Amino acid sequence: MTALIPVTEVAAAVDGFLAASPAARAWDVETAFDWARADADRLTDGQRSAVRFVTLIEDHLPGYFDVYHRHFPVDDTVDRATFTHNRELYHFTVRWALEEDTHARALARYQEAAGIAERGALRDELAIEGQKPFDLPYGHPVQFFAYALVQEKATQMYYQHLRDVVDEPVLAAVLGRLARDEARHFSFMADVVGRYLRVHGDGVVDPLRDVIATFRMPLADTMRGYWRWALQIADVASYDHTEAYEHLIKVIDRAVDAESDRFGELVRFIDECRTVA
Ligand SMILES: [Fe+2]
Ligand SMILES: [Fe+2]
Repeated sequence: MTALIPVTEVAAAVDGFLAASPAARAWDVETAFDWARADADRLTDGQRSAVRFVTLIEDHLPGYFDVYHRHFPVDDTVDRATFTHNRELYHFTVRWALEEDTHARALARYQEAAGIAERGALRDELAIEGQKPFDLPYGHPVQFFAYALVQEKATQMYYQHLRDVVDEPVLAAVLGRLARDEARHFSFMADVVGRYLRVHGDGVVDPLRDVIATFRMPLADTMRGYWRWALQIADVASYDHTEAYEHLIKVIDRAVDAESDRFGELVRFIDECRTVA
């Protein structure tokens, strides 16, 4: 892929992410929660539905992870400079994938422990969406990071909002862990997008504009009944991915002179795409 940032830039972002993710702060599904106390009877129907929805989204991790392999290959299909860049990025993606896979397991375990779903039935239900393809139709590397920036922030905010309204301590604890991880994932993406802005300047304006103009949350195009379900979960706790756009604007403001014509125009465009301006 052309227009990458230098390997030293991506390495610095990955080092920052891993420094913010020490083993002492890691958690696991087996010991982090008191599963015996999980109780879906304390949830509303809407809250149960929201848990089922986010489990499906998190469980699609193999599809998301595969996007990085396809677009940032770590093999002999790329030149040496691209390989070294992608190899550094890989230190992030494997760690990120482990954390996202843990989210999927935590939510599935919650459903089982709380009495929302039986394990075998849930496995079969998740497989229906899990087998569907996922790809991001981008040609510029910054787009993958900008997309993930919005998606991680939107997910973080939804978990926080949902945690604020549930009256069930085990689910609240799970959502708290997930939200903190998503916040760290967001910070990495924001760091990388900032580096692209500083390295490539105007060269990333059109790619960034394209990400916002075509933005769809993951699985929005493949999941059966996605939009009906998305409206339902927004009813339970506020959910609006365009709320995350202000965080992209902040990244742009910090990295470049947003007063310049092209960036000023980009910021105005992103701002106008927000549902609540
Ligand atoms: Fe996640
Ligand atoms: Fe995440």
